[in-house]
Amino acid sequence: MINYKEQIAKQIGSLVEMPDNEIEKFIEIPNNTENGDYAFPCFKLSKTLKKSPQIIAQELKEKIQIDTEIFNKIEVVGGYVNFFINTNSLTKQVLQEIDQKREKYGAEEQKNKNIIVEYSSPNIAKEFHIGHLRTTVIGSAFYKVYKFLGYNTIGINHLGDYGTQFGKMIEGYKRWGTEYNLEENPIEELTKIYIRINDLCKKDENVLELCRENFKKLEDGDTYCVELWNKFKDLSLKEFYKTYDLLGVKFDSLTGEAFYQDKTQEVIDILEKNGKLVESQGAKIVDLEDKGMPPCIICKSNGSSIYATRDLAAILYRARTYDFDKCIYVVAYEQNLHFKQIFEVAKYLDLDKKYTDGLKHVAYGMTRVPSGRMSTREGNVVKVNDLLNEAIQRVLEIINEKNPDMEDKEENAKKIGIGAVIFNNLCSTLIKDQIFDWNTVLNFNGETGPYIQYIYVRTKSVLEKAGYIPEFSHIDISKLQDKESQKIIKILYQFNNILNQVIEKNETSFLARFLIELAQSYSNFYNENKILGEDKEIQDARIYLTYAVGNVLKIGAGLLGIEMPNKM
Ligand code: ARG
Repeated sequence: MINYKEQIAKQIGSLVEMPDNEIEKFIEIPNNTENGDYAFPCFKLSKTLKKSPQIIAQELKEKIQIDTEIFNKIEVVGGYVNFFINTNSLTKQVLQEIDQKREKYGAEEQKNKNIIVEYSSPNIAKEFHIGHLRTTVIGSAFYKVYKFLGYNTIGINHLGDYGTQFGKMIEGYKRWGTEYNLEENPIEELTKIYIRINDLCKKDENVLELCRENFKKLEDGDTYCVELWNKFKDLSLKEFYKTYDLLGVKFDSLTGEAFYQDKTQEVIDILEKNGKLVESQGAKIVDLEDKGMPPCIICKSNGSSIYATRDLAAILYRARTYDFDKCIYVVAYEQNLHFKQIFEVAKYLDLDKKYTDGLKHVAYGMTRVPSGRMSTREGNVVKVNDLLNEAIQRVLEIINEKNPDMEDKEENAKKIGIGAVIFNNLCSTLIKDQIFDWNTVLNFNGETGPYIQYIYVRTKSVLEKAGYIPEFSHIDISKLQDKESQKIIKILYQFNNILNQVIEKNETSFLARFLIELAQSYSNFYNENKILGEDKEIQDARIYLTYAVGNVLKIGAGLLGIEMPNKM
């Protein structure tokens, strides 16, 4: 498709002393379409050219040679040169591309670039909390978008399956394991054991020492300890997969922290060799004072590795195994400092700059229920599976009330309920904290997942009523010149660009907003225009546009992890 900004930059670039890509950055999209589709502001040129922006704009306008296939006209308003695109040719390009690429519209060719997306990463034997839900759906969306854009993408669930707490879990299980029903409610029961042993440790120093020994044994591969640890892990994963299956989330690798346990020595050796390790109260640390950060502990005084060391080992391993161009970590902003530290220390691991430059923490904000924050330690825990099932249940109630005879009720309720929760996690700027409120999340008329699904279903029912989708080659493009159709075409045109912004800015909300805008525009189009029963040529063109909108809504929602119901 024509890249309009590039075209404008090329024209202007041949007339002024400024590189095309610089010019491209200045090109704006006017809020008011009366000022054209693109506008080039001349203020920046005013200084070097020693002329007023208005005069420069006027001169540019006179010199620019417009290709009428691309632009209908150019106008000067104030210090701007405004470009009006040839809407017929735009419409044709967009719909033709959709016709050719179908469910691949917006996708790109396979690239020779490896992207790691690390997401979810819950902790074994602990509750999968609402923060984990967020990383899971955000990470999964990035994973899908990267893949769609042709990147070789690797999704990693960096399980929190290691740490001194397992020494405690083992001790607790050894003492009271038979009292708890682990098969039924593994995480809840394991948490109870953990709390109980923790209390005991606080009272009895000897028990704490036993726990420490267990952990050491675990590190050294003791059969009993490893067996128990495996049991905790398997039980936990079975629980986690209930959530993943509901969400439709997948991973390419489940290599968690434990996997790196025997790989931390190399990290220590390299840092030692590079003279970066300093002794501090028996521990080994990397001083980061000159970077304005507290030191990064690499090795505790008892010799065991910590969370950060395993992350550093993971960076080495991932660089070698996947030769990544980018490795993004979708983790809550509470860990900002951790990632700043390990990314800094990673620079001392003799890695190619390509790798250290490719590390990126994509931080996201917390989810609050109206009554406060949701976390494991505080009482106010909301279990993710319960939340997802409640979403489905609530939708089912709405359906039973409004459309009790609907076919595939359960299946649709699941898609709508889950889709609503997913969308809610992706639609606002990721770094912002968010409030989880059922009334907002499930509002079918709001800026929500269900709204997008609702409009999608509407496009489906229009096509069903029509009974046919005309062939693109038979469409008279000039029948789509009305305001509402043109608005839709311009949005559709942006789709690939939006996907690229998602990965450049690490923001899923761009895609979420895009889908809302597309859905709203179709709704306007639908309200303002008769689709069926019009003159045949108009009808065909509008049916085709309807098909195009449905197609892109489905692709885009799919990339966010949202499935489309067949009825609503
Ligand atoms: N397991 C950690 C938690 O639940 C998150 C792990 C994040 N990823 C990492 N590479 N450190 O808080």
